[in-house]
Amino acid sequence: MAAAFSLPRRLPAPPPRQMNAPASPSGPALPDAGARPAAVLWPALRDAVRARSAMAPPALPPDTLAWAPDTGWRLQGCWDAEAQALFTLCQPLLGAGPAGAAWVVAQLGQSLDGCVATRTGDSRFINGPETLRHLHRLRALCDAVIVGAGTVAADNPRLTTRLVDGPHPTRVLLDPQLRLAGHLARAQVFRDGLAPTLWACDARWQHAAVAQAGAERVLAVAGLLREDSTLDLARVVSALRARGLVRLFVEGGGVTVSRFLAQRCLDRLHLAVAPLIIGNGRPGLRFEGPAHLADCARPPCRVHRMGVDHLWDLALRT
Ligand SMILES: NC(=O)c1ccc[n+]([C@@H]2O[C@H](COP(=O)([O-])OP(=O)(O)OC[C@H]3O[C@@H](n4cnc5c(N)ncnc54)[C@H](OP(=O)(O)O)[C@@H]3O)[C@@H](O)[C@H]2O)c1
Repeated sequence: MAAAFSLPRRLPAPPPRQMNAPASPSGPALPDAGARPAAVLWPALRDAVRARSAMAPPALPPDTLAWAPDTGWRLQGCWDAEAQALFTLCQPLLGAGPAGAAWVVAQLGQSLDGCVATRTGDSRFINGPETLRHLHRLRALCDAVIVGAGTVAADNPRLTTRLVDGPHPTRVLLDPQLRLAGHLARAQVFRDGLAPTLWACDARWQHAAVAQAGAERVLAVAGLLREDSTLDLARVVSALRARGLVRLFVEGGGVTVSRFLAQRCLDRLHLAVAPLIIGNGRPGLRFEGPAHLADCARPPCRVHRMGVDHLWDLALRT
């Protein structure tokens, strides 16, 4: 009889290592006594990113960040390895497009075999605490966070920035035909009052949405649901921009991020890969791809170490 295929329940954890800390042949680098930590740098980075698309000069503490036309943004003074890694990670968002430009970033936390949840929808938590903090930082950098209806139904998320210092984004539930109607009464984003929440639907369902949630909580998008039942996501992006929500974060799930990717609505994609094997779980990226490898996208990318995870930062508009 063939032996059953089995895996150890927990993969052995590697020794802790700081995000992108430089490897040293004689062991981990010793902290510099005068170096300032990431927690001190974060507010300056956050304010610089947010001010850039608001076209307002950021009021940055002295000796944190500086910008010059020939060098772009540079760190000022002495920072520890984690702070330097945070700067490197945020640099593309600091320089995203011309001042005042809008952009869309997405993130997915996935297993080595490309799943964002188990087959029952359990996704808490695929990634480690460092990646979770990064997720909250992305929320704090953005005006709005967008999630698909499947994520709201499965996770009932809060979508706040409770793990970091920064404003909560507007929460946007992408639900063209109001399939979440039965979930609304218990949805945390509609109950906690911590930040605005928008129920984004096709304009044909506007009246039903307003009757249930109130006009101030409905984003009715004309032409969102096409005749062939696909979504026109550029219209969602435009509708949010028309409300002054210019930095957008698409947080999942796999179906929603895949749709934004396939419709070329993303500027960057952060894929956080955890050393975990799920099997027949919910897929991450899935869309109708090219038949030949030569036609598949190989976007410019950088890899950041985040605890035991690896975060792939893909530049999708170059
Ligand atoms: N690891 C991560 O980074 C991450 C992030 C977010 C979520 N998740 C996990 O991903 C899973 C959800 O992602 P997903 O890709 O399946 O969906 P999703 O992108 O969140 O939402 C879109 C999908 O949900 C379907 N849907 C609509 N209403 C629904 C309802 N009331 N109940 C269930 N599904 C509904 C939609 O079907 P139609 O198009 O036919 O309407 C569409 O296929 C959850 O298990 C969540 O825990 C993981």
